[in-house]
Amino acid sequence: MGVELSDVAAGDFNAPIEKFYATLPQAKGNYKSRQRPIVIEGAMNTETEILIRALKKPVVYREMNYMFVAGTYKDYPVVIVRTEIGMANAAASTALAIKKFNPCAVINQGTAGGHDSALKIGDIIIGARSFDNTAYRSAYSEAGEGIDLTKQENIGTYAYDKTTKKFQAYTEYRADPTLFNIAFAAANNYNGANVVSGVIGTGNTWLECVDYINFLHEKYGSSCEEMETNCAAQICQNAGVPFIGIRVLSDNVTNSREYVPESAKVAQNFVLLVVENYIRDVLKK
Ligand code: 5AD
Repeated sequence: MGVELSDVAAGDFNAPIEKFYATLPQAKGNYKSRQRPIVIEGAMNTETEILIRALKKPVVYREMNYMFVAGTYKDYPVVIVRTEIGMANAAASTALAIKKFNPCAVINQGTAGGHDSALKIGDIIIGARSFDNTAYRSAYSEAGEGIDLTKQENIGTYAYDKTTKKFQAYTEYRADPTLFNIAFAAANNYNGANVVSGVIGTGNTWLECVDYINFLHEKYGSSCEEMETNCAAQICQNAGVPFIGIRVLSDNVTNSREYVPESAKVAQNFVLLVVENYIRDVLKK
C-alpha cells in the first residue's frame, strides 16, 4: 500500500503528482546511513517531483506532516524535503530534516520572482547570500505623515554564532563556499539555463510593486524574492550545516507580467548537476 499524502498537498495544481507520491513506499523505523546524506529542499510538489523521480530506492518519511523522501543519487544518500510554502514551514522542516537525517549539506531550491530586470523567467540564481526581506525597522513618522518604506533598515534574523556562543542578528547568510564554488563551476558550459550568482530575498510576501522592488534591488542587491531560502539558511547556521540556495525565476514583474511555475523544472535539473559534481569532487574524494 502506498502512502496517503493528499491531505498535505501544497496547492491544487499539484494534484496529479500526489498520485505518483502515493506509489512510494513508506519508511519503517529510523533513517540509517553510513554516509551523511545531502538534503535538497523544495516547497511544492512541482519543485520536488523531478528530484524525487531521480532517486533510487525512494522511501517516504513523514514528520509533523512534512514529507521527506530518502534514497540515493549517483550511489550517494540524498533526502528530498517538501518544506511546504513559507518561512515557518521552511524553518521547521529544515530543523526536522537536520535532526532526522544528519545531512552533510542542505540545498534549498525552487522558484522565485525577479528583482533584477536583466534576468528573465527561466534564469537561475545561485544564492551567494540570502537575507530576510521582512526583517525591517521603519523610520519613525507621525500619524498622517504617510508611509515611506524606503527609510526602513534591515535588522536581520537571530542565529547561533559558534565563536561568541550566542544567538546574534544576521542581516545575511552566506552560501557555503565549497557548495558555491561547485555550483558556480557547474554553471559554466551549462546549456539548460542562464545561471548567475546573486542575492535571494526571503519573506512571506509576494511583491508586485515595481518601485518598491527596484528600491530593494538597489539597497540590498536582491536578485529575486521567494519565501523559504533565508529561513533554511538560518537553521543551517544554528546547526553548523553547509547551505546554499538556488532559485529559478518563475516571474519577474520588472520586465514581464507572466508567471510560469513550470520553470521549477529548470532549477531541479541544474541542482541535480550540482549535487552530482558535489558528490564526485567533494564527498567521494
Ligand atoms: N514572490 C514570492 N515568492 C515566490 N515564489 C515564486 N515567485 C515568487 C514571488 N514573486 C515561490 C515562493 C513560494 C511559492 C509561492 O513560490 O518561494 O514557495
